[in-house]
Amino acid sequence: MSEFKVRDNELSELEVQTLIRAAITARDKAYAPYSEFKVGAALLCSDGRVFSGCNVENAAYGAGICAERGAAMQAVAEGSESFVAIAVVGWKDGKSEPERGLAYPCGICRQFLNEFTDGRMSVYVARSITDYEKNDLASLLPHGFGPKNLED
Ligand code: THU
Repeated sequence: MSEFKVRDNELSELEVQTLIRAAITARDKAYAPYSEFKVGAALLCSDGRVFSGCNVENAAYGAGICAERGAAMQAVAEGSESFVAIAVVGWKDGKSEPERGLAYPCGICRQFLNEFTDGRMSVYVARSITDYEKNDLASLLPHGFGPKNLED
């Protein structure tokens, strides 16, 4: 049984906190020896499942990948292709809560997530489970290019 009741893309405060907590747990696994900026993401799908990801850097810098795309890859590989919400956290170790910035998904990740939404995905960027901002993916990626653009 999922901890999440997915209806109308609206999450309860408790559900948001659970999603952010999962992102913070994923952040602990980040492999970021070059930037030292550790990112965690937790992605809620319409089937109620949550997939997490962390950034994984590489000695060949450009080969690294962001936390959000890591989570999205996990979801698709496990058969979940309908995204409802994502929580993202990112900061360097040792930052106190007020020192942390909000890690908004990069442009490539916004585009990547857009592929698997009905246009109403929520993006929670957080400093802690109680200090977060809610955004719609559509406002972070205005006029986004998606599968519909390729329809005949
Ligand atoms: N990063 C993410 O994981 N997600 C984003 O949306 C922005 C950036 C990672 C990539 C790199 O490992 C580190 O943060 C610094 O850019």
